Amino acid sequence: MSESKRIGILTSGGDCAGLNAVLRAAVHHATGLGWTVFGIEHGTQGLMDSPPRARKLDIADFDGTIIRRGGTILGTTNYGNPFAYPQRDGADLDRSDEVIAGYRALELDALIGIGGDGSIGILDRLAQKGGLNLVCIPKTIDNDVSATEVSIGYDTAVQVATDALDMLQPTAASHDRVMILEVMGRDAGHIALVAGIAGGADVILIPEIPYRIANVVRKIKGLQEAGKHFALVVVAEAVPNEAGNKIVQKFAGGRSAYSGIGHLLGDRLAETTHAEVRVTVLGHVQRGAAPDARDRLMAAVFGVHAVELIAQEKFGRMVAWRDRHVVDVPISEAIAEPALVDVDGPVVRTARGLGICLGDQ
Ligand code: F6P
Repeated sequence: MSESKRIGILTSGGDCAGLNAVLRAAVHHATGLGWTVFGIEHGTQGLMDSPPRARKLDIADFDGTIIRRGGTILGTTNYGNPFAYPQRDGADLDRSDEVIAGYRALELDALIGIGGDGSIGILDRLAQKGGLNLVCIPKTIDNDVSATEVSIGYDTAVQVATDALDMLQPTAASHDRVMILEVMGRDAGHIALVAGIAGGADVILIPEIPYRIANVVRKIKGLQEAGKHFALVVVAEAVPNEAGNKIVQKFAGGRSAYSGIGHLLGDRLAETTHAEVRVTVLGHVQRGAAPDARDRLMAAVFGVHAVELIAQEKFGRMVAWRDRHVVDVPISEAIAEPALVDVDGPVVRTARGLGICLGDQ
């Protein structure tokens, strides 16, 4: 048995399917080594509080239902960067020292951070400033963390979007309608592209491929002329309007997120094709579903490997999946730049081979 350790684990950034399965895997492996695991609540915010908001996690906390559940039992947050923490008066305050103090107060030997590229970058900065022993696990439905082929939550989000297309197709066909499905993914079109192929879309628009509305109209009219009077269109949330501007929805409190291109596109297609158009904005159901088998497997693989890295005292690393193997890479390399859709890659070529209109021709 390795030397006893105290480790912390937190989930940070937007939630997604599979986070609880990662927690279960890491806790299982770490407690099996005789270590103590503290689950830190609401990401780095839990470490900012004094005393830190954290609870001891044992394998008994993970009954048979938890690996099946979406969300995160620890809670998370996708705002509140400790280096620029928003105050009520609108100013930002550097609270990074409080997070580092929380790590010390819990007397941690290491921390596992489960996050997307933004959260991982912040955790890495904290680790460098405070000398924290950090290991990260990539999660994001957007699948845009470079250095790993898959991030936790992506596969389930693709399945949810594919299920949505499966449900839109019969109603589209019954009413001779053009159905637009707007999906998430931030600046990456992975969910739209893969779900669009899997769900039989006629048109897929992604941020990486500039489109012209005339090309989409031509595709839909071509389908109509060939006797197919319905169409499925998938659009990624960060696809810009025809003027090149990304559409953002502002929320009360000043925060914002991409949303709205589906309805704009719907109006343009209704005007130009004279088809009846309906729009579905899939939204957060892509995040809250029960994890599928692939996400549960990756959660288990990543959770166990992260604990092994700590056992070997290999810090400043992110676990990753490459060529059918779990590997680990320096965090700086992992988040150097977002992994967008390769516009010359095999998935795009497949879509073109299927005759799917990607808007550029
Ligand atoms: O990064 C995950 C994600 O779901 C994006 O796909 C989406 O743009 C964003 O988060 C939504 O953020 P929020 O939860 O703040 O609405």
